[in-house]
Amino acid sequence: MYALRISKIIPQPNNNITFQLEPLAGNYPPYKAGQFITLSFLFGDREVRRSYSFNSSPDYDEPLSITVKRVENGEISRLLHHQVAEGDIVQAMEPQGLFTYEPEPHQVRTLFLFAAGIGITPLYSILKTALLVENSSKIVLVYSNRAAEQTPFREELEQWAIQYPDRLTIVWIYSNSKYLMKARLNRDYILAIVKDHLVGAAEDALFYTCGPVIYMDLCRFTLLGMGFESSQIKRETFLLPENEEDDDDETEREVDMTSYQIKLHFQGKTYELEVPYNKSILDVGLDHKIKLPYSCKSGMCSTCISQCVKGKVRMDYNEVLTDREVENGRVLLCTGHPIENDTEIEVF
Ligand SMILES: Cc1cc2nc3c(=O)[nH]c(=O)nc-3n(C[C@H](O)[C@H](O)[C@H](O)COP(=O)(O)OP(=O)(O)OC[C@H]3O[C@@H](n4cnc5c(N)ncnc54)[C@H](O)[C@@H]3O)c2cc1C
Ligand code: FES
Repeated sequence: MYALRISKIIPQPNNNITFQLEPLAGNYPPYKAGQFITLSFLFGDREVRRSYSFNSSPDYDEPLSITVKRVENGEISRLLHHQVAEGDIVQAMEPQGLFTYEPEPHQVRTLFLFAAGIGITPLYSILKTALLVENSSKIVLVYSNRAAEQTPFREELEQWAIQYPDRLTIVWIYSNSKYLMKARLNRDYILAIVKDHLVGAAEDALFYTCGPVIYMDLCRFTLLGMGFESSQIKRETFLLPENEEDDDDETEREVDMTSYQIKLHFQGKTYELEVPYNKSILDVGLDHKIKLPYSCKSGMCSTCISQCVKGKVRMDYNEVLTDREVENGRVLLCTGHPIENDTEIEVF
């Protein structure tokens, strides 16, 4: 864990707050544009972790910073909004996440960044890095909010667009707009934006999406339909979709109530555990005081990715692993349940 001082708190529109963070002792490890930090809070014996994407860029001379939306009844977001002050210390894990952008200074390509609301945070980091490091590439930010005055970073983004008029285009989408075609992102709008702004080869274009799952699905399916490859399209999920149950699925799923024996290989030790049907592998590991890596505990952040080397694991939810990775035995501990005895898992 790293101790970070909150050096500045900057209110943002629409119940968002930016926190600038300063490493207390030594250096905080380097991060990549698009990654997130995990904050850890202790309430007695109970530890609560939450992830926040950096909106700062590692390639711009600025403090580490994150922006937090206040969530109704949200435990940590409300604490950060109402109980934390400049000068306070927070505990954090090293930067993590696979939603990264690696600039290639000699590339000429287009980066399309699709952000909805607070989904701007990792994309703002990527935008700055791309402008500063990939000098011949074009960046198109498509940014959806309720209204202009409820848009985080609006003025800063306008300044970047003034500074880089030939390289940065921002498509502002406001759901309170009178022009209904432009009030929400839709398939035709995505087609038009990509057609109008793509420079360089289509196969070199990159697409980053961050917003509600349904929003990112719209982007993904439209782009796949246009002929872009799945590998060109990345997504970051902050939240589980609200109605996760599949309404179309009328079949009653049979619940396997067996407990399975597994072996967990972690940091040079092997742990033999019994995982009951109603607990994830992560929960059982934490119950045994094994300091396994985790953050979101819901299949969204990638912190707990591990390798199943024997047996089989079923995941309740997975937003981060590709089909090929799953075929190759990659699993998430936080939503994973063994479905065979003697399953063995290597934790990275
Ligand atoms: C990889 C990653 C990056 C993230 N980056 C950011 C970021 O940059 N900025 C940011 O603000 N958050 C970000 N999040 C979300 C963040 O980690 C927390 O989930 C969020 O702050 C809510 O935590 P909480 O403790 O306040 O709410 P909880 O106590 O966990 O949730 C309380 C209730 O509110 C619901 N809820 C949670 N979030 C929302 C929401 N946004 N809207 C509506 N209902 C909600 C929950 O389903 C639950 O029912 C990120 C999450 C991940 C996994
Ligand atoms: S802890 Fe986030 S994916 Fe498992």
